[in-house]
Amino acid sequence: MAPVSDPCSFSSFSKCLTKHLNLTYQVDFDSHVLKGKVALTVEVLEDKLSVLTLDTKDLKIFKVAANGQTAKFALGAKHGYKGSPLEITLPFELSRGQHVIVDIEYETSPQASALQWLSPAQTAGKKHPYLFSQCQATHCRTMVPCQDTPSVKHTYYAQVSVPRELVALMSAVQDGQEQDPNDSSRVIYRFRQPVPMPSYLIALVVGALESRVIGPRSRVWSEKEYVDKAAFEFSETEAMLRAAETLAGPYVWGQYDLLVLPPSFPYGGMENPCLTFATPTLLAGDQSLSNVIAHEISHSWTGNLVTNKTWEHFWLNEGHTVYLERMICRALDGEQFRQFKAMGGWKELHESVERFGANNVLTNLVPNLQDVDPDDSFSCVPYEKGFALLYYLEELMGGPEVFMGFVKSYIQLFAYSSVTTEEWKDCLFTYFKDKVDILNKVDWNAWMYTPGMPPVKPQYDTTLADACIALSQKWLKAKDADLAGFSEADIKPLSSHQLIEFLALLLAEDPLPLSHVKRMQEVYHFNSVTNSEIRYRWLRLCVQAHWEGAVPLALEMATKQGRMKFTRPLFRDVFNVAEFRDEAVKTFKEHRATMHPVTAALVARDLKIEESQNTGL
Ligand code: BES
Ligand code: ZN
Repeated sequence: MAPVSDPCSFSSFSKCLTKHLNLTYQVDFDSHVLKGKVALTVEVLEDKLSVLTLDTKDLKIFKVAANGQTAKFALGAKHGYKGSPLEITLPFELSRGQHVIVDIEYETSPQASALQWLSPAQTAGKKHPYLFSQCQATHCRTMVPCQDTPSVKHTYYAQVSVPRELVALMSAVQDGQEQDPNDSSRVIYRFRQPVPMPSYLIALVVGALESRVIGPRSRVWSEKEYVDKAAFEFSETEAMLRAAETLAGPYVWGQYDLLVLPPSFPYGGMENPCLTFATPTLLAGDQSLSNVIAHEISHSWTGNLVTNKTWEHFWLNEGHTVYLERMICRALDGEQFRQFKAMGGWKELHESVERFGANNVLTNLVPNLQDVDPDDSFSCVPYEKGFALLYYLEELMGGPEVFMGFVKSYIQLFAYSSVTTEEWKDCLFTYFKDKVDILNKVDWNAWMYTPGMPPVKPQYDTTLADACIALSQKWLKAKDADLAGFSEADIKPLSSHQLIEFLALLLAEDPLPLSHVKRMQEVYHFNSVTNSEIRYRWLRLCVQAHWEGAVPLALEMATKQGRMKFTRPLFRDVFNVAEFRDEAVKTFKEHRATMHPVTAALVARDLKIEESQNTGL
């Protein structure tokens, strides 16, 4: 395969490939530092190799050895989000096919962007500190010097020493624990990940964690305050795993556990192998937000088994995962429900395209990420444009069963490897070799390399959306004199999914008049709803209608939890109303120090406190 370059990595993966990592961590909650040792087993791909380059960011490197011999090393200048290349000069030359073990002693920075160190006050239990990592997309290099590119896959083994009242978990299978021989107040937890995976899937959590069994291969982990609620919320996990296996083939990772993090976790979910990380904002009490779990389960095939070769091909991870997620929802809740969710996704794509601008190249399905931080370019475009393409192809090729046949064979062909969009497309044309005439009519260039909305809008069944559309239209058309006609009974027949859709439809239009949102609160009492997806959209609607009374509620939601999907638009909406702007900035500044490092950096840019780079935002 032709070597592909990764604009986000300095590592020399055309010359050598990491096969295995052996990691040792001492977790220091006083200094907010991981004292680390790593042994990388590296396979050499070319003759006369004597220099290799790894990715690092904000690491202190103390010592490097190759096959036990001390090696010279130099850290290059820091290149913003990419960090500093670590150039290692071997004391010998290697030839193609040989392996070398590179040992590195190092320490992380308290500012490591992969890590959030929480004080006891920031936890539910209030007694113990807490640490979690989030490596995707390019933060693993702040935890481990490595080839931090999704084009390289390796296994790993890890030993983590933590204070004995805490539990450590990683994105791997547990492999026992013992008292730390150097310090009886500490315990060492061991982990093994025998399935090759990219560096961005390395994950670590340390906290006062408990667990409950929720299925034959699943436990849910969290602080004890959330654990029973989480066990109920995610009780469909095994049913989803089975549905996914029927669709995509065997689950190869052994265990599938879930971890519910503290509220500052920046994503809805993260597909760390063997241990999905999830935000507590999914704990709605009625399992209604479990599609996020279906999504993370799906990544066990698309993303973790078949991986995007670089972040420019991120849609291969997320588009296929949304496709599988919705196929799982179809298996559990029916085709109409899948179509309802698909239509909602198209609307979200529309919102993102409008926000970025329809000419912004970051709305390309396959963007150019030269000098673009993937965190800055993150949006629902790779998810929903990717899904829309697959859903469009599904219709062209003969429906969900037929198209799943392709998705399954794509997974089989590329399992354990990393792929580009072109390789995906070749696979598609090969699978549907009898239908290439239809495939040749697809406007590939428009779908993949052109900004804005896709060239074709797929068809959706509107059965479940009709009630949402009708009620939203009634509000959009209502004059002040009509407001008395609304009552609590309007929303009685709507499911929480439909309430989300109803609010999303209103948000897609020009802001409602203040009189309308005030009346909506009188009749629907949305201020007291705790379902995070409903509350988030409701508070945006109120702020956009310039309702001053909603500003403290919006800023409270933006800061009490830190899921970026909620926190960023809430801050942005408050900031975008001139008379509320100062309040948004003041609240952000008060919370910044205790926010997740990535969330803090992105909100700072959204609120124009720091310059944004190259995003056109
Ligand atoms: N892998 C992503 C989260 C992610 C993406 C983290 C890019 C860092 C960089 C995860 O699978 C995801 O997509 N989560 C979504 C779930 C949703 C689409 C159902 C989320 O966080 O909301
Ligand atoms: Zn995902």
